Amino acid sequence: MGETTQVGKPRTRAEYMEEILRLKKEKNAVLLAHYYQEADIQDLADYVGDSLGLSRKAAETDADIIVFAGVHFMAETAKIINPDKKVILPDENAGCSLADSAPPKEFKEFVEAHPDHLVVTYINCSAEIKAMSDIICTSSNAVDIINSLPKDQKIICAPDRNLGEYLNIQTGRDMVLWDGACMVHEAFAMDKILDLHKENPNAKFIAHPESPQNILRISAFVGSTEKLLNFVQEDDNEEFIVATEAGILHEMQKRVPNKKLIPAPAKEDNTCSCSECHYMKMNTLEKLYNCLLNETPEIDVPEDIRKKALVPLERMLELSK
Ligand code: 13P
Ligand code: SF4
Repeated sequence: MGETTQVGKPRTRAEYMEEILRLKKEKNAVLLAHYYQEADIQDLADYVGDSLGLSRKAAETDADIIVFAGVHFMAETAKIINPDKKVILPDENAGCSLADSAPPKEFKEFVEAHPDHLVVTYINCSAEIKAMSDIICTSSNAVDIINSLPKDQKIICAPDRNLGEYLNIQTGRDMVLWDGACMVHEAFAMDKILDLHKENPNAKFIAHPESPQNILRISAFVGSTEKLLNFVQEDDNEEFIVATEAGILHEMQKRVPNKKLIPAPAKEDNTCSCSECHYMKMNTLEKLYNCLLNETPEIDVPEDIRKKALVPLERMLELSK
């Protein structure tokens, strides 16, 4: 790793961006960003992707430092795969309501109460929950992973009840579901969506499978962030109402500059009327700069948990090659 050249603290957005690129190069760091990150961070990243793409990139990188512009469970996943690399997250408080909805003690009791069940867990969970799982999945590969299991295999699907209900319908299974949810995808306002559709009758409504069934039932297409991006590119329609975190519109508009993209509205009581994940938005240019400069906050996972959590993660990576 090279020695850090200390220059004056950046003041403008352009200076922050320039310094982040310089530090990244100097320290042989790779910047991985989720589609829900603020636009400037996405533009600086070496790779922008969904949860599956990001975990694949984390498994491939030969950088010394992984800077994860995403939330805690994503950085933790990168550390589980790369115990010898330094993994840093611009704001260590960037958590996830869905991951928080599965506390390890209660989850352990739930698993023990279903002894003959295989535990298929969505990647949006803590390392401790991964360590209690048999296979990890993401919204991109969940249907294929579940379909690869024997038809009579009993399964626990956790922690997202909405994704679980969607997967039960898609795969014809009757998986036991953990009752967790993402606060952003639960907050879409059906009445406002219907009004918006009246104003934009030609717009196709598309949604992420973390959304509840009433939202998914009215969707022309359901998919992970990556699949939603591919859909708007490949579909002939010119207008879309997009029900997922609003940060995705940055990359989406880049890919389809001439199409009209409208974020699905959230209920009034949500933190933001346009469905923003406040955890994802905790990472800022300034925090990213400080994180690279000081190489903190660093993400660590206790070795016994890491080893156990790696097994279901590797199964997922193997099954979704
Ligand atoms: P994907 O990246 O798998 O689409 O999941 C979205 C999400 O909520 C990540 O936190
Ligand atoms: Fe978690 Fe939802 Fe935010 Fe994704 S959008 S990080 S699932 S709270």
